[in-house]
Amino acid sequence: MSGRALILAAHGSRRDPAANALVRRLAESLRRQRLFDAVAVAFHHGEPAFDAVLDELAADEATVVPFFTSAGHYTEVVLPEALARNHRYADVRLRQTPPVGTHPGVAPLVARRVTELLRERGAERNDAALLLVGHGTPRHPRSREATAQLADMLRRRRVAGQVVAAFLDDEPAVDTVMRQLRQQTVLVVPFLIGGSGHALEDVPRLVGLHEAEAGRRVLVDMAVGSYPGLEEIVVDLARKHTPPPPPRFRLRMTTIVPKEPGPVHLVGGGPGDPGLITSRGLELLRSADVVVHDRLIGSELLREARADAELIDAGKGPGHAPYSQAEINALLVSRARLGRSVVRLKGGDPFVFGRGSEEAAACREAGVPVYVIPGVSSALAGPAAAGIPLTARGLARSFAVVTGHTGQPDGEVPDVAGLAGVDTLVVLMGLGNLAALALQLVAAGRDAATPAACIQSATTREQRVTRAPLGTIAEAAERDGLRSPVVIVVGAVAALGDVGLGELPAVVLAAS
Ligand SMILES: C[S@@+](CC[C@H](N)C(=O)[O-])C[C@H]1O[C@@H](n2cnc3c(N)ncnc32)[C@H](O)[C@@H]1O
Repeated sequence: MSGRALILAAHGSRRDPAANALVRRLAESLRRQRLFDAVAVAFHHGEPAFDAVLDELAADEATVVPFFTSAGHYTEVVLPEALARNHRYADVRLRQTPPVGTHPGVAPLVARRVTELLRERGAERNDAALLLVGHGTPRHPRSREATAQLADMLRRRRVAGQVVAAFLDDEPAVDTVMRQLRQQTVLVVPFLIGGSGHALEDVPRLVGLHEAEAGRRVLVDMAVGSYPGLEEIVVDLARKHTPPPPPRFRLRMTTIVPKEPGPVHLVGGGPGDPGLITSRGLELLRSADVVVHDRLIGSELLREARADAELIDAGKGPGHAPYSQAEINALLVSRARLGRSVVRLKGGDPFVFGRGSEEAAACREAGVPVYVIPGVSSALAGPAAAGIPLTARGLARSFAVVTGHTGQPDGEVPDVAGLAGVDTLVVLMGLGNLAALALQLVAAGRDAATPAACIQSATTREQRVTRAPLGTIAEAAERDGLRSPVVIVVGAVAALGDVGLGELPAVVLAAS
């Protein structure tokens, strides 16, 4: 994994695929420019979801550009939370930029466009009004900010005789403002990102109502999100907000390097509940000189480390994305070469989609002794925590564990058709592709009525379980608002679920 990625994080729409086409086109055009090693699009409502993109991004660092006109719930809450949720599993240094619409380059773009349109129509600038339509929402105080600021800037530039802002979902409303305008020519600019429903239908409907009545020329332009110049703005944001450089580990010249490097133990920390680490793993954790852990490995487990042990958080989150995989490998080697015993504590099992084998290989190549202590994988613990056995006499004699990702940031779905005949199929990292995976299995002959279940944050207080037939499991997971990490189980056994994990702490069974 190497290189630099750009992720365009867009709102998207599951009902209206055309709404997603614009940002996909922009991404395609940026890909052609080859300014980034990878360009990915992630949708809040649509596929691929942000979690899915980030999980499998083939890059060391990524700049996340919210393709939104203004700050709001998504940019301030949803996106940072998504970054935080993923930090446990991914190795990409991340940085989120401000939303595209707040870039200072937007005002000149809109000003140029307005001047052009007025010239084309032969309208006098001073006789025309510019109505800027933002989305806004009274639920988020910042959602109107960018529209109001842009209107101010355009007013100062005197792009039209009058410049006013109105909102689709806030005050002042579009039709109210239209009624108050007195100019013969009204230019309406939807300060919206998508070229979908709002820009093509709602805005024209709201302003059109008054066109005839006032006898004016009303021109509704395309959404600002469709302006070709936005591409440069995205690139500029990404350039100015590169992720922080990785910390460097240097041995000082005075360091005495012992002949025998300390051992590195790759320890499986289990699926989440601190009681689910193995006793050998716990013993090593308690005695280690250095513990390199995933960020959300759980404070309860980390408290087991020696008080004087060096704890290194190698995970990542918003504003915290310290190490790439190569740097983690180097870190393990450098600490071991100081003669220290190192525990690399990872979620679940280190050798199940955990990149443990890469870390082991790096240690071996460097001549550092390395051992693996298996952990309870979420692939097994997730279903168990929901009371679902992977095999059951008369119901299931085989099971398979598969990733729900191809590893490509473009959202390509892995081919699981060949596994349709396995009695019980367990899918990790598959939430974002769930609908497509289910379709594939049904097309390959699996009955759409086959029971399926999704277990979110298994064995932790956040555990939630959604059950539905294979044909509707994706819909049910979305309805229940499930978030990564999620284990998916498909097979007759998914209908079972009357046993939990008993008295272990933090296990909550919530079947829906
Ligand atoms: C990169 S993989 C790491 C798997 C890990 N090595 C293991 O053995 O569990 C991350 C995926 O594991 C699954 N996962 C890990 N912990 C989980 C949990 N507590 N509940 C549900 N799924 C979990 C999710 O599918 C998540 O996307």
